[in-house]
Amino acid sequence: MRAAVFEGGKLEVVDGIEVRGPRSDEIVVRIGAAGLCHSDLSVVNGTIPFPGPAVLGHEGAGVVEEIGAAVTRVKAGDHVCLTTINNCGVCPACSAGRPTMCRGTFGKISKPFTREAADGSTEKLFSFANTSVFTERVVIKEVQAVPIPEDVPMASAALVGCGVLTGVGAVLNRAKVRIGETVVVIGVGGIGLNAIQGARIARAGRIIAVDTNPRKEEAARQFGATDFLDPSGQDLVQLIKDLLPHGADYVFECVGHPALIRAATDLLAWSGTAVLLGVPRSDAEGTFLVSGMYMDKTIMGCRYGTSHPQFDVERYVDLYRKGELLLDELVTKTYPLEHIHEAIHDLESGSLARGVLLL
Ligand SMILES: NC(=O)c1ccc[n+]([C@@H]2O[C@H](COP(=O)([O-])OP(=O)(O)OC[C@H]3O[C@@H](n4cnc5c(N)ncnc54)[C@H](O)[C@@H]3O)[C@@H](O)[C@H]2O)c1
Ligand SMILES: [Zn+2]
Ligand SMILES: [Zn+2]
Repeated sequence: MRAAVFEGGKLEVVDGIEVRGPRSDEIVVRIGAAGLCHSDLSVVNGTIPFPGPAVLGHEGAGVVEEIGAAVTRVKAGDHVCLTTINNCGVCPACSAGRPTMCRGTFGKISKPFTREAADGSTEKLFSFANTSVFTERVVIKEVQAVPIPEDVPMASAALVGCGVLTGVGAVLNRAKVRIGETVVVIGVGGIGLNAIQGARIARAGRIIAVDTNPRKEEAARQFGATDFLDPSGQDLVQLIKDLLPHGADYVFECVGHPALIRAATDLLAWSGTAVLLGVPRSDAEGTFLVSGMYMDKTIMGCRYGTSHPQFDVERYVDLYRKGELLLDELVTKTYPLEHIHEAIHDLESGSLARGVLLL
């Protein structure tokens, strides 16, 4: 089958990839659609260190094709959204309702894919983020598949798997924004747009979107921003303080840049919280002014929206049906897998909310 493979420094669409069959607690999913998240680009450009060869992609949806002997929650033919969290279900973190903190979900990289090497031997390929949805078929744990209604379009359902769970979850699960609180979202990409709509769903007061690309204003307002700022060539902190003289209750950094992380902390109101969603280089360091922090301010990290995928996806689909959670509007353009470099170009040039590959 075809796959977009990270081969150390570059990404190539190749044929001849095989995936192994399911173990007892696993399923095989025929991928229908896969979103292109900035984290995939960050692997290719070295921001996120990852070994190759690896099949990339971690935001997908598809149809269950085959199930392992012990699988009970899904069956062949079910439409599912994939999550990257293959949590064990029994450890202290899982028992406390924090599946994204399950130790088993990070650092163990499996190699479920194979291909024939030039010398005729069999070469194994890594799975990225336990999912690898830039291919036709994947094998995942049962816990990573969340059933979704068949009438949710595949391209829209795919985006729940990272962008929506991360952005909306950061607001509702991690920050727990309350009615009327003020929110600043820095970076209006797939993650930032979902933080914006999470803030709208939480009935935040002022929601200020910030992006150096002025073309992001229309989508930011559509998703719920009350204000949009392009800080190019200006002082971002001063621009926000002109609108919120006491600072913001919450700032979501959705770019992954140390200077913006610093700005996020400088923007906080008393008892305000900076939520760091962007992923800078693994050796990046940040700074903050210590004075002022004692006014009950918080800087928090957030993995995958502190999500409980089996619970959250169901409630997000419910909000989608009520018209409160925008999913179809996140899909700016679809591409065949072979055109992934065009999708990457469009993402980097800022013309996409999300680009989606159709498998
Ligand atoms: N914490 C998590 O669990 C998690 C999950 C997924 C993605 N991420 C990370 O979130 C970040 C965003 O991902 P995405 O898919 O939304 O990316 P994206 O490329 O779709 O969006 C990034 C946005 O930031 C804007 N931007 C760039 N520089 C800026 C600046 N100096 N000031 C203001 N805006 C600026 C761009 O114009 C773009 O709109 C990435 O670092 C990604 O790795 C984190
Ligand atoms: Zn992602
Ligand atoms: Zn666990």
